[in-house]
Parts: sequence; structure tokens; C-alpha cells
Amino acid sequence: MPSVEILSRSTEETISQGRELAASLRPPLLILLTGELGAGKTTLAKGIISGLGVAAEEDITSPTFTLIHTFTGRVKVFHVDLYRVSDVHDFDTLGLEELFAEPAIVLIEWPERMRLRTDWPVLRIALEHVADDVRKITIAETVPDKFARRSSGTA
Ligand SMILES: Nc1ncnc2c1ncn2[C@@H]1O[C@H](COP(=O)(O)OP(=O)(O)OP(=O)(O)O)[C@@H](O)[C@H]1O
Ligand SMILES: [Mg+2]
Repeated sequence: MPSVEILSRSTEETISQGRELAASLRPPLLILLTGELGAGKTTLAKGIISGLGVAAEEDITSPTFTLIHTFTGRVKVFHVDLYRVSDVHDFDTLGLEELFAEPAIVLIEWPERMRLRTDWPVLRIALEHVADDVRKITIAETVPDKFARRSSGTA
């Protein structure tokens, strides 16, 4: 599946790109946000989650210490940060199975910290630090056959 590449030149631009992307997203969907510390994962999540209409931009903060932020509105949205998780066996003990219990939009920062199993469509978003305020954002979507007749993203 082809991937889409966008260049963002500011924090605000990344937020508005997230808001634009949100318009095309439908549950169930797993969004994997990758990139080094400070790449802009939480910033993009701010745009996506506020764009989904479930929270105001200023109320979307990093879930680093709380692990999961849950938003309930028109759609159910989970914002997860696995940065501080190291044990592969944590998945069930952390209550992460609730994430996939019903159709939702699940955003995960540092997804490489854990083995995640789902048959949902997946949107992989990689953020790269290019220069001071410049970020490259690469988006690729994988839609399993059983969801193939609806499109959940842009890629
Ligand atoms: N074009 C840009 N897009 C996103 N963030 C930017 C951009 N330019 C500068 N920034 C700044 O970079 C920082 C990105 O921080 P953010 O918390 O979003 O990163 P993160 O990838 O979630 O990091 P962490 O791995 O610590 O969770 C913010 O301070 C933001 O203002
Ligand atoms: Mg973050």
C-alpha cells in the first residue's frame, strides 16, 4: 500500500494536519505513532483527537505517566503512551485488552514497546525530526480484507 509523506514546518501545522486527518478516520482503527523523543507524536495526537471532536486541544496531554487517556464522545478514543512500559507481559496486566473490546480509535505512542495484536485496520504514522521546527510525517495504512470495503484513512 502506498504511503503518504507530508512536511510540517511548525507545531501548529502538525496540529492542523492531525485535525484534517481526523475527518477521514472511522472506528475501529489502530493508529501507531512512531518517532524519537520530541518528534511530535503527542502534538499530532492533539490534532487528531481534537479533530475527532472528543476533547479540546488544551485538554489533550501526554499519557506518559498515566498510560491511557480515554475520551468518550461521538466515537470512543484511547490515547496510549507505552514509553515507560518495558515488560512484554504487561499487556494484560495493564488493562490494555479493554482498548480493543469495542470499535474505537486507538492511538499508541511508542508501540514498539509491546507486541500488539489486533485484526483492526492500522494506520502507521512515522514522525521524523528534519530541522528545528520541521518534521517529516509518513502515513501508511493497512486494511485487512474484512474491512476492505470501507476506507478509514488517507493512505
Ligand atoms: N513541526 C513540528 N511538529 C511537531 N512538533 C514540533 C514541530 N516543531 C517543533 N515542535 C515541538 O517539538 C515538540 C514535540 O513534542 P511531542 O511531545 O509532540 O513529541 P513526542 O514525539 O510525543 O515525544 P515523546 O516521545 O516524549 O512522547 C514540541 O515541543 C513541539 O512544540
Ligand atoms: Mg509523546
